[in-house]
Amino acid sequence: MNRITLVPGDGIGPEVSSSVVKVLKAVDAEIIWDEINGGETAFNKTGKYIPDELLDSIATNRVAFKGPITTPVGKGFKSINVTLRQKYNTYANVRPVKSIPGVKSPFHNVDLVIIRENTEDLYAGLEHMITEGVAESIKVITEKASTRIAEFAFKYAVAKKRKKVTAVHKANIMKISDGLFLDCVRKVSLKYPEISYEEVIVDNMCMQLVMYPERYDVLVLPNLYGDIISDLAAGLVGGLGLVPGANIGDDIAIFEAVHGSAPDIAGKNLANPTACILSAAMMLDYLGNSNAANKIRQGVFKVIETGKNTTSDLGGSSSTSEMTEAICKAIEQS
Ligand code: NAI
Ligand code: MG
Repeated sequence: MNRITLVPGDGIGPEVSSSVVKVLKAVDAEIIWDEINGGETAFNKTGKYIPDELLDSIATNRVAFKGPITTPVGKGFKSINVTLRQKYNTYANVRPVKSIPGVKSPFHNVDLVIIRENTEDLYAGLEHMITEGVAESIKVITEKASTRIAEFAFKYAVAKKRKKVTAVHKANIMKISDGLFLDCVRKVSLKYPEISYEEVIVDNMCMQLVMYPERYDVLVLPNLYGDIISDLAAGLVGGLGLVPGANIGDDIAIFEAVHGSAPDIAGKNLANPTACILSAAMMLDYLGNSNAANKIRQGVFKVIETGKNTTSDLGGSSSTSEMTEAICKAIEQS
């Protein structure tokens, strides 16, 4: 039995997290959930965005599944997601973006993995007004974090039998900060001659990805470009409802979809649960239960390919719970 912290989250979070719990039950994943919420919903109940109980639970269990959390708007409020990633030093954000058969999309051959640095860059939270009408945000890039994410990306490429790592940057303009990032990735790349290595400037990368996504394999990026390119890449394979993710550190991992709390569809049973369910499959891989993880992926892909029980973002007319039920059935029949 694995004890896992479950953070249902805000907006569509509770709906898609409940899908995860059902699917992991259907696959007999032997998980005991410690359910403790964080974010807006938690704040309204407890007065705290991140209750101490939640911090203790993640520190004890070392593995968490997190639904999306609404970022509080306004000065003085830091993103809960960024806070958790920094606190637990889950420095690698891993987001596999792969075409799924049956999904309507201009591309059918996308298979890339985004490895986003998760702890620094413009997300370090160093922002202030210098004087009235002049604001400053500080972009922090360190040799330590850049080398660490580069090592992660190349080790990942080797472990997953990938062929190429592309570093994405803007070192032509930010010569010192992105220059340092690039220097670190370049140095690490020399230790992995079996993996091809290339560098692409981030604006060109956007154009390349929407024209030739099949050319890319593993991408390694500083935090902000990683965030933006992740949503762009999700658009190549059918949208945010489909792309899973994991925040991985040396001994703590928090699994969550790329998407946010989607306030526009929250509470309506409309959200596509796939991204969260596939994130949970990544969690089972991490826990060493690839058998269950593969069963989940097969169940999800079967339902999407059959196309009868899909949510509206995929062109279907099913609810979140109907699609979840169909996935559970597909798993149970496998
Ligand atoms: P979003 O990702 O929540 O939504 C963007 C668009 O994608 C919306 O039209 C939404 O309906 C659609 N979408 C997202 N997930 C979907 C799903 N599972 N099924 C069907 N459609 C889906 O991004 P947005 O609106 O910019 O952010 C909303 C809130 O979420 C903000 O407070 C933001 O800070 C937060 N956020 C939290 C994240 C996290 O907890 N990891 C990640 C990204 C955003
Ligand atoms: Mg994002």
